[in-house]
Amino acid sequence: MRVKTFNDYQEISDAAASAILNQVKQKPDSVLCLASGDTAKLAYKKMVEKAKKEQISFSDVHFVGLDEWIGILPQKQGNCALFLRQIILSPLKIPEDQIYFFDSMANDLDKACKKMDDIILKKGGIDLMVVGIGMNGHVGFNEPGVSQKLKSHVILLDETTQKVGQKYFKEPQILKKGITLGLQHLLDAKKVILMANGIHKAKIIKEALAKEVSVDIPASIIRNHGNSLVMLDKAAASSLTPKEMNL
Ligand code: GLP
Repeated sequence: MRVKTFNDYQEISDAAASAILNQVKQKPDSVLCLASGDTAKLAYKKMVEKAKKEQISFSDVHFVGLDEWIGILPQKQGNCALFLRQIILSPLKIPEDQIYFFDSMANDLDKACKKMDDIILKKGGIDLMVVGIGMNGHVGFNEPGVSQKLKSHVILLDETTQKVGQKYFKEPQILKKGITLGLQHLLDAKKVILMANGIHKAKIIKEALAKEVSVDIPASIIRNHGNSLVMLDKAAASSLTPKEMNL
């Protein structure tokens, strides 16, 4: 795992946008898994702008979803898939048959999980995963205490996630369960980038990077990945010592 720090949100977003574009340039048929949420929002906007300006083709790129709220309709603002459709997939005109999201409205959610695992396997694995970190250390919806060996699964969301998750919605929502790729997917991905920005993430970043690797802080598992990069802005890195930042 490497750690890179950037001055501010603009800089980290520029760098993350370039990292995703470089992946696509190197492997035009990449399988990408990009987290929804506030952290990478600007990076995705910059990525789309640059891709258009520099005519970087996404015509062979495939996208798999990271996670989804259970019980939130696909057309509702706050739905993770809708976020990615609006910010990345529609502007880049990605064909529907290259997009794989969890069917979070399915009656049989276990079947939806199995389907996602099969798709990822069939595609030859995820080339690049870009994830954020929740205020409780979660990655996707891998909540504290989750098994590291899990692939796609349905999970009860812990209180922090239920509370923090309200920020994505216009009105209060009941957010009890999520469906998510597992930490095993993170470990199996060929490359993983974890992004965090803002002072509100400093404490959990310290716990993820400076304490022992443990599923109590699921994001800490990234330290066991041989090709992982943690991108932080100065504020999110502000509790780390130079040594903890690999300096
Ligand atoms: C959310 C999502 C994650 C996201 C993380 C951080 O709940 N399930 O995929 O990466 O928590 O979110 P944000 O970037 O909004 O801080």
